[in-house]
Amino acid sequence: MDSIRITGKQSLYGEVEIQGSKNAALPILAASVLIKGEVVLHNCPRIQDTRLMLQLLRRLGARITIEGHTVSIQNEERGAIELPKKDVQGMRSSIVLLGAMLGRYGEAVIYYPGGCVIGERPIDLHLMALQQLGASITIQDDCIIATAKQLTGTHIHFPIVSVGATQNAILAAVLAKGTTVLSNASREPEVEALCDFLRSAGAIIKGVGTRTLTITGNSLHPVVYSIPPERIVAGTYLLAAAGAGGDICLTNAPIQELNALLHVLSLMDCFVRVKEQRIYIKTDRALRGGIDVTTQAYPGFPTDLQPQLTTVLTKADADSYLKETVFEQRFAYLGELEKMGANITKQEHGITIHPIAQLKGTVVEATDLRAGAALVIAGIMAEGESLVKKVSFIERGYEDIIGDFQKLGVTLFKE
Ligand code: EPZ
Repeated sequence: MDSIRITGKQSLYGEVEIQGSKNAALPILAASVLIKGEVVLHNCPRIQDTRLMLQLLRRLGARITIEGHTVSIQNEERGAIELPKKDVQGMRSSIVLLGAMLGRYGEAVIYYPGGCVIGERPIDLHLMALQQLGASITIQDDCIIATAKQLTGTHIHFPIVSVGATQNAILAAVLAKGTTVLSNASREPEVEALCDFLRSAGAIIKGVGTRTLTITGNSLHPVVYSIPPERIVAGTYLLAAAGAGGDICLTNAPIQELNALLHVLSLMDCFVRVKEQRIYIKTDRALRGGIDVTTQAYPGFPTDLQPQLTTVLTKADADSYLKETVFEQRFAYLGELEKMGANITKQEHGITIHPIAQLKGTVVEATDLRAGAALVIAGIMAEGESLVKKVSFIERGYEDIIGDFQKLGVTLFKE
């Protein structure tokens, strides 16, 4: 029951609504630790990673009720300050609880599982930022032990852009004494959403959406907030329509956050139209290849759409080049695509995708969340039936990838 069986050579027709964003929901759930009283979150995606984060919040003392996509969190009582291995195994993003726990309680003990298939996933920049704010941190057997009598504002410069480290610094700074400046901060929409949530709870944050954030410590109050839609899920479905052909509409799509992808789709000769919060894409001709894309921090082309774009470019009419600059090994899925007939040359930091007539359906295995989604696209494009195994990876971030593709007219089902 951890596989998806997909009928091949299908085009996509229909309309699908885009779910709430996993990568916005996770830091916002962590941020609820900072707020005494009730936090109500609407449009919270019902996915494995948010379920895990809610379990961690319960361990920290939160009382939580869930009704559909609305989560209500009461954080008056203080619970454990330790998140051991069994609780956080495999959920690296639990690390953003560190900043929130230090901000609220002045102490935290969090196990950190480290790397994964896409890269080593270091946390040196997280720890650098928290130490500069006054935390003292030691590490014993992958457990981070942090205390902070008083977090105090300072200027933190990030040598490289890091989404998680920026979020951890924000979470520790919003209740700190004085003012914190974060320079070379991440501008990802998920950082902007976290700032937007915190400002609606009374935080004082300036420069939101830029590389320099200025945060002045201030008390926070209960708040009701709606999680924004997920740009990577929207981008996945747009790329699926580009690769499989057809004519679809995405509703409640975060259009403003997809410019880098929309530009690439237009280079590939897809017809894309946006109207209010709806994106229409129609692909009824050969995909133009010969494009050169480099993944970068926002607003550049997102690394989380790299496997999906590679899959679609196997069908383009000329060689294309894709360079990955964010994660050092985000090509683990290539072997699975090659089992389907993809012809890809690997260079040091990038790949050249050579055109082939058609991917061939077969049995493949997801290596991580976004690569798993790419293999579902490959199965829809391929000739013959495919079976994508280890779908639990995909369910970490896609609320209902099977139901969504069925709404777009695709025959696929879980087995
Ligand atoms: C977030 O991961 C996302 N995860 C990732 O999405 C996304 O791919 C990534 O940002 C980049 O956009 C969540 O938001 C939960 P980083 P994060 O810190 O914060 C290096 C998905 O599929 N680095 O911006 O871990 C790091 O090695 C996931 O939804 C350090 O060197 O990413 C990487 O090369 C996959 N030291 C680069 O920075 C640090 O202390 C960017 O990583 C931290 C990061």
